[in-house]
Amino acid sequence: MSENTFLRGPKDWWRQAVVYQIYPRSFADNNGDGIGDLKGIISRVPYLKELGVDAVWLSPFYPSELADGGYDVADYRDVDPKIGNLAEFDQMIDALHAAGIRAFVDIVPNHSSDQHEWFQAALKAPKGSPERDRYIFRDGLGENGEIRPSELISHFGPTAWTRITEPDGTPGQWYLHLFAKEQPDFNWHNPQVRDDFLRTLKFWSDRGVDGFRIDVAHALVKDLSDPLPTRESYDMSVIAPNGTDRLFDRDEVHEIYATWRELFNTYDPPRVAVAEAWVEASRRPAYASEKGLGQAFNFDLLAARWDKRVFNDIIDYNVKEAVKTGSSTTWVFSNHDVVRHATRFGLPDGYDWARWYQSGGTEPKPDLALGLARAKAATLLILALPGSTYLYQGEELGLPEHAAIESDQMQDPQWFRNPGKAGSRDGCRVPLPWTSTGKSFGFGPGGSHLPQPEWFAEYAADQQDGKLGSTLTFYREALAARKKLIKDESFRWVHHFNHNVMHFRRQGSWDSITNFGDTPVRLPKGEVIIASAPIVAGHLPANATAWVRHEEQRFSFFRR
Ligand code: NOJ
Ligand code: CA
Repeated sequence: MSENTFLRGPKDWWRQAVVYQIYPRSFADNNGDGIGDLKGIISRVPYLKELGVDAVWLSPFYPSELADGGYDVADYRDVDPKIGNLAEFDQMIDALHAAGIRAFVDIVPNHSSDQHEWFQAALKAPKGSPERDRYIFRDGLGENGEIRPSELISHFGPTAWTRITEPDGTPGQWYLHLFAKEQPDFNWHNPQVRDDFLRTLKFWSDRGVDGFRIDVAHALVKDLSDPLPTRESYDMSVIAPNGTDRLFDRDEVHEIYATWRELFNTYDPPRVAVAEAWVEASRRPAYASEKGLGQAFNFDLLAARWDKRVFNDIIDYNVKEAVKTGSSTTWVFSNHDVVRHATRFGLPDGYDWARWYQSGGTEPKPDLALGLARAKAATLLILALPGSTYLYQGEELGLPEHAAIESDQMQDPQWFRNPGKAGSRDGCRVPLPWTSTGKSFGFGPGGSHLPQPEWFAEYAADQQDGKLGSTLTFYREALAARKKLIKDESFRWVHHFNHNVMHFRRQGSWDSITNFGDTPVRLPKGEVIIASAPIVAGHLPANATAWVRHEEQRFSFFRR
């Protein structure tokens, strides 16, 4: 199906890369303060190399008050002293590169932290000042400006406008924050904001960073002319699909990314970027354009239920779309914002995330064996697809979600800004278990900033290392097999008589077969390269994927 059948050069390294997401605070803690750090990452580079990933993506490690797990950045061109410093960052990049691993960093351009020097300057400066113009300030309504400029809901809670105290101590203007109140939105119509982000991108590119993941890439440009959007006139969960929405996915955002692309292309190889843009599939190509960021996350499978037809439509659409746009698509099941897929696939379809979390992850109770089987099958399936694959730290251990965290230990603003009503993203952000014993299961010599459950011991990396049949061994083998097998981006469906079985062929030479059904199915003839579950008498069990070397089938009536 794909026309992209030539082998691409090093500047296209990202097209089919396996990218491993590191959530720095929860990966590895070197100094024992309970918070993961850059030295911790450096110490685990051999692990990443053995795992076989092509690149890592680091969630924010910048100075932050952690109102939103680091997505509230106080300084875009520094490292949080709790995590390390710039010299250690350089060492980390060197260590990764020496191991053949590239690095993405996270850029958060929609909003800064309220601790950012520009926001602090805006608070001290008068209304109408250039300092305030870098953010989005408005007068309140009512006689004394005491009523919000509009009743807009933020992603993390009841309102998107917060009132400040003016330098003279009186109640003052209001500022916009689409997320937490500690995350004021930038005014992207202001040229200083535009210049400063170019400076940031250059800063990290010059330090050897290979790529960028762009946070809420579709939110930067807003139409805040009067009348302002309100909760009656505007539903934040529905984005107008024509580029004229008031807050998201406006066409003008691509003018910004065109300037970023110009900068990226001054490097050799050009720096790459992937947009986190929760937009309709038809709107993704603009972000993935080679004149823009170059690639956009495709979250379709992350939201899909375990169903062959659902998977089929998503894959078909995205593979075709990538060929049309010239970009390559991305596949992802887990990240720091969603319930880990080893748990998700063990929960009934349509379960209510908030209610499930409020019950401590017990109502309903996930079937973890089923969840893991499907998670491995799903991961092997996406590793067989053209495009790049994003893995989230801990999924290679088959780690389930830890949803039984005491409420007062939670950190996610979504949880405590909607008391009793929300789910939490903390359960996928719990520090990793490296060893089955030790105070923080080998995360570090001290404790852990989020509590780890006892059952982490059985999932620890040291328990799985070198063990036949462990999830870690499976991931290592799958990544190694992928590296050997994947050459070009060609892909074609193979019809399977069983409507619960997905079958496709890569490079005309090997097949991926996934059994979404409940009963085993016979595999086609040919060497089994790898399977997510043991093959019994030539049969692929339910909820499993296998890669099989393709053998030309000969019809028996030609034989004598
Ligand atoms: C998306 C990030 O992935 C999420 O963790 C964060 O809370 C929001 N953007 C706001 O930055
Ligand atoms: Ca630390």
